[in-house]
Amino acid sequence: MTFELANKVAIVTGGAAGIGAAAVRHFLKEGAYVVIADINADQGEAMEAELGPDCAFKYTDVSKRSDVQDLVDFAVATFGGLDIMFNNAGISGTMQPNLLDDDFADFEQVLKVDLLGVMLGTQIAARHMKENGGGSIINTTSIGGMQAGCTVLSYRAAKAGVIHFSKSAAIDLAEYGIRVNCIAPGGIPTAILSSATGDAEESGTTSAIRRIIAEDRPLKFDGDTSDIANAAVYLGSDRSRYVTGIVLPVDGGITAGNPRNPLRAMLAEAMAS
Ligand SMILES: NC(=O)c1ccc[n+]([C@@H]2O[C@H](COP(=O)([O-])OP(=O)(O)OC[C@H]3O[C@@H](n4cnc5c(N)ncnc54)[C@H](O)[C@@H]3O)[C@@H](O)[C@H]2O)c1
Repeated sequence: MTFELANKVAIVTGGAAGIGAAAVRHFLKEGAYVVIADINADQGEAMEAELGPDCAFKYTDVSKRSDVQDLVDFAVATFGGLDIMFNNAGISGTMQPNLLDDDFADFEQVLKVDLLGVMLGTQIAARHMKENGGGSIINTTSIGGMQAGCTVLSYRAAKAGVIHFSKSAAIDLAEYGIRVNCIAPGGIPTAILSSATGDAEESGTTSAIRRIIAEDRPLKFDGDTSDIANAAVYLGSDRSRYVTGIVLPVDGGITAGNPRNPLRAMLAEAMAS
C-alpha cells in the first residue's frame, strides 16, 4: 500500500467543518501529519481528540497575520516542518438578489477571510518552504470566482482575486520549488450555502438553490466533500510535481457549460423537418 502524502506535514485552514474536515481525514489516511486551523474551537478540538496524535488543532483566524504566523510556527514545532498549506477557510457573505440593492455590508469581512486569508497563508507558508526545500500551496477559490453570476458579489470578487493572486504567486515562488494551485469547488453540500441564505440547513431557499445547481450541472449525481479532498491530495502530493498555477474545478462540469442549452433541441427539430 502506498501513501500519497507519507510523512508530509500539512495545514488545513477551515479544517473543522465541510470540505476542510474531509481534507484533514484524507490527508491523514494518506500518511500526512495534519494541523487543523479554524475559528471553531469546539469542532477542531473534537476532531483532534478523535483523530489521534498525527493530528493537532490550532485556533486560527486566517484574516489575522499574527494568527497565521503562529499557525505555521505551531506546525513546524509540532510536526517538524510544513510541506502542504491548504488555504481553504472561507465565508460566503450574505445573498442579495441584485447589485443595485446590495449595500456591500459583508465586503470587508468576506475580503479579509476569503482573499487576505489566502494571501497571508500563502506568504507565511512560502517563507518557511523557501528555506526548507519547497512545498505545495493549495488555495480554495470557487466556481463563483471563475464565472460571473448573480448574488454574493463580495464573495465572487474575493474568489476571483484568489485565482489571480494564486497564479501570480505560482510564478513568483516556482524558483523555490513551491507550487501554488487553486481548487474551485461547485455545488458541494456543506453549511456554507445555508449560512448565505440564512435558512436552516437544506430547507427553503437553500434546497431550491441546490435543485437549480443540479439541473444546470452536466454530471447528474451530487458531489461531496471527499471529491474536493481527493483533488487536494493530488495537488499536495508529488504526483502533481509538474503542475503549478492551475485552477482545478471540481464541480460536476458546471463551469464546462449548461447542459440545458435549448440549441440542441432546436437543431434536432430543424434537421428533422
Ligand atoms: N461547498 C461548496 O459548494 C463550495 C463551493 C465553492 C467554494 N467553496 C469554498 O470551500 C471552502 C470551504 O467551504 P465549505 O463549503 O467547507 O464551508 P463550511 O462553512 O462547511 O466550512 C468553512 C470552515 O471555515 C471556517 N472559518 C470561517 N472563517 C474562518 C476564519 N476567519 N479563520 C479560520 N477558519 C474560518 C469555519 O469555521 C468552517 O469550519 C470555502 O473557501 C468556500 O468558499 C465551497
